[in-house]
Amino acid sequence: MTDERIGIIGGTGKLGNALAGRWARAGLAVFIGSRDAAKAGASAKAIGHGARGGDNRAAASFATIVVLTVPFAHQRASLAEIAVDVAGKIVVDTTVPLVPPKVMRAQMPPEGNAARIARTTLGDSVGVVSAFHNVAAHKLADPAWRGEGDVLVFGEVREQRQRVVDLVKAAGMRGLHAGSLDNATAAEALTSVLIFMNKFYEVDGAGIRITGDLVGV
Ligand SMILES: NC(=O)c1ccc[n+]([C@@H]2O[C@H](COP(=O)([O-])OP(=O)(O)OC[C@H]3O[C@@H](n4cnc5c(N)ncnc54)[C@H](OP(=O)(O)O)[C@@H]3O)[C@@H](O)[C@H]2O)c1
Repeated sequence: MTDERIGIIGGTGKLGNALAGRWARAGLAVFIGSRDAAKAGASAKAIGHGARGGDNRAAASFATIVVLTVPFAHQRASLAEIAVDVAGKIVVDTTVPLVPPKVMRAQMPPEGNAARIARTTLGDSVGVVSAFHNVAAHKLADPAWRGEGDVLVFGEVREQRQRVVDLVKAAGMRGLHAGSLDNATAAEALTSVLIFMNKFYEVDGAGIRITGDLVGV
């Protein structure tokens, strides 16, 4: 597992930076990507633990697993930019198709979900896996947070999902196989439910937990 090299597109942002910190502290090789290499370098320096920074294409080239953490409005263009660098690799799409200002209402795109957009944009040579929709970035950013809650992991190929389940574990959470990219619709929509509940119940970052005795977990 620690042999994986992680490149984070938009890794200067809230989710990407929080994940970068967790993976770097866990001993993984982390490369923070940005549209601005200097900004990524500063972000990597702040994280330490050998984290590196550069532009998004350098992050994609460095990695065995590329993690996309940019807002929905920029998902497609960001993926198109790195498409040639990620052939044969795994790309983890974290995109939730939020359409401000109505972020407390599930609004799915005409393609079905953001994971399908990633799949269509990148093509068949890339192993698209979708995950991390239901975890709050500020929770992940707190090194003292115990990681309660589950991360549902979607993708067409079991082995590719497993590499991301392992990555979730390295970030201090429980990752669970949750089926096809079509199923990612449920997790992407659930984020709006959680944002609503955060407000309604005054929760500081609600998450999800699957109950029952899961064999093999
Ligand atoms: N925040 C959360 O709690 C959370 C939880 C689950 C899933 N997500 C998903 O994770 C993704 C990132 O969320 P976030 O809250 O981390 O976003 P964010 O902090 O607002 O932005 C992330 C990064 O995206 C890059 N970016 C901004 N505008 C861009 C543009 N026009 N073109 C290309 N890149 C651009 C920026 O990096 P540079 O300026 O360095 O290029 C920025 O640091 C979203 O799709 C979100 O739905 C977020």
